[in-house]
Amino acid sequence: MVEGPGWTHDTVTGDVLTLADTGAEGLGVFDTVVDSALFHVFGTVPEARAAYVRGLHRVCAPGGRVHILALSDAEPGFGPRIGESILRDSFVDGWEFEDLSTTTYRGRVTDLVAREAERYHLPTEGLIDTAAWPARIRRR
Ligand SMILES: C[S@@+](CC[C@H](N)C(=O)[O-])C[C@H]1O[C@@H](n2cnc3c(N)ncnc32)[C@H](O)[C@@H]1O
Repeated sequence: MVEGPGWTHDTVTGDVLTLADTGAEGLGVFDTVVDSALFHVFGTVPEARAAYVRGLHRVCAPGGRVHILALSDAEPGFGPRIGESILRDSFVDGWEFEDLSTTTYRGRVTDLVAREAERYHLPTEGLIDTAAWPARIRRR
């Protein structure tokens, strides 16, 4: 349980790719689902993207919305990045793609990505703003 002034929420950890099968057992169904910087991780793996989308369909209520912030290939940089069509083409049957725009994702350059950042002549520590897609998708 995480608490703040006037709110509480439960925290559950798990593999998002199993939500469609057994992973959502007891989790519930939500009007709003938020993904901060996960979807692009599956960018080059169509089966994983499909499993992810099936999982979201299971945990999102009909008429509910999924908000995704995914790293964009609009600029070079470390980490997996995806193009617009990967997002749009992943949410077709059972979904209505409502909005896709451009923004930046502020992340911290950790030791894990510092060497890759160097290759792109990016800062090797501290905070960095990088191109991202904010998407809003409605579950039918
Ligand atoms: C780029 S980080 C984003 C972290 C955080 N959500 C944020 O916005 O700062 C991607 C995260 O996705 C997690 N992740 C990768 N594959 C996953 C999976 N199959 N199920 C759940 N989480 C996963 C990683 O452990 C990592 O924490």
